[in-house]
Amino acid sequence: MPSTEGRRPPRGRAVAAAALAAALLTGGLTAAAHAQDDSALPDRDAALAEAATLRQLADERGLRMGAAVGARHLDQPDYARTAAEEFTSVTHENSLKWQTVQARPGQFDWSGADRIVEFARSNDQTIHGHTLLWHSQLPSWVADGGFTEDELLEVMDTHITAVVGRYRDDIDTWDVVNEPIGDDARFRDSVFHRTLGEDYIAEAFRMADRADPDARLFINDYNIDGINAKSDAYYALVRDLLARGVPIDGIGFQGHLVSGQVPADIQQNIQRFVDLGLEVMITELDIRVQLPATEQKLEQQADDYTRVAEACYAVEGCSGVTVWGVTDAHSWVPGVFEGQGAALPIDGGYRPKPAYWSLHEALGGDPGPAPTDPPPPGECEAAYTVTNQWQGGFQAQVTVTAGTDLTGWTVGWTFGSGESVAHAWNASVTGGGADVTATNAAYNGTLSAGQSTSFGFVGSTGGGVSSPEPACGAL
Ligand code: XIL
Repeated sequence: MPSTEGRRPPRGRAVAAAALAAALLTGGLTAAAHAQDDSALPDRDAALAEAATLRQLADERGLRMGAAVGARHLDQPDYARTAAEEFTSVTHENSLKWQTVQARPGQFDWSGADRIVEFARSNDQTIHGHTLLWHSQLPSWVADGGFTEDELLEVMDTHITAVVGRYRDDIDTWDVVNEPIGDDARFRDSVFHRTLGEDYIAEAFRMADRADPDARLFINDYNIDGINAKSDAYYALVRDLLARGVPIDGIGFQGHLVSGQVPADIQQNIQRFVDLGLEVMITELDIRVQLPATEQKLEQQADDYTRVAEACYAVEGCSGVTVWGVTDAHSWVPGVFEGQGAALPIDGGYRPKPAYWSLHEALGGDPGPAPTDPPPPGECEAAYTVTNQWQGGFQAQVTVTAGTDLTGWTVGWTFGSGESVAHAWNASVTGGGADVTATNAAYNGTLSAGQSTSFGFVGSTGGGVSSPEPACGAL
């Protein structure tokens, strides 16, 4: 496709939409107009909007390029658009877990799970089902139930049959058992292992297979991306399951990785499982960096993404990669790994990071902009994301990215009716009524060009939760 001064376009279509809209709002145009009608754009921006999406590239090669999706984020238009346009497949981040689906015995809540299935259906995406049996996010009535062997088998069968059966027409691959082996390479202690011994794994696969004989069934874990004691234990386990005729079709390498520490033998490891006759998928890829993320760290991360993606694509039998979240603002990493984050290919403002271009290029698309490309024009940009909402309230995060060196910044936006800020952090927020102004805290006003910082707040609302388009300026 045409590029500017021999450079690759710095954005893909979906991720471009928000940034383009922000850049062009000053011209009085709306995001929708830009997303849908390139002819309204200046030539250069029209060219940017034409870059192939990851989804298009993956589709051309018959590969999965998935993302974990949270049901509660789907109300955010930028989130939904990016999830639909950039990914061939979705995984329920939490909505299919036992705790969510059957928190109490026999009482099934399908609301979140259905929401995501509907979303995938309407966007013609595949769904990887996550997960049927896991020691975590398991309700206490199962974990502490004191069941006999037969009772527990029945509890498992009821759950697996209900979940797999309900989505037979929509979900064709499943993580049947998640994380059954610990980092010590031994079977992990869980109610399932304690009650039934290691055979619970085979039983779970048989139950899932009975519920949907056409589904492809996976075992899934972290820290098995390279060859190590834990992945050796999986190798022995799945070889044994296959030898016993247990209906297992694949293994998921979660791929929760630390930047700079991608195992050198990941391709070799993928290959050895494929050689057993299994499909391999990278099911939950994120590659975290120590915050704050600098340009240099994001370049290292981009190399890491290249390594993982190329290792998979090099092996026929590795069907693709799923990233664990749509953007950095929706990633589980900062909440779990203290001081770490920025683990995904798209940042909190829906801008593609160098890692996005790594995936793009590994899939056969144009590589991204050179690391020395200038930062986005203007003093700064602000991206507003609602990260949580509940009856009467919500939480939002605003990410400020400097376009030039700054010593202070201010962000303004207009709330929808009834909305106000109750409590903010990492910025001081003022303003009564609908117009709100946030200014940097003492410690996060200085940003060099291209650097980002975030602040957040808890808001109250009398009615809906809006998605304002904030404006950002230097102080
Ligand atoms: C994580 C979700 O991302 C979080 O929102 C949740 O609080 C905890 O679980 N391995 C898995 C995933 O198999 O289900 C986990 O997802 C991340 C680690």
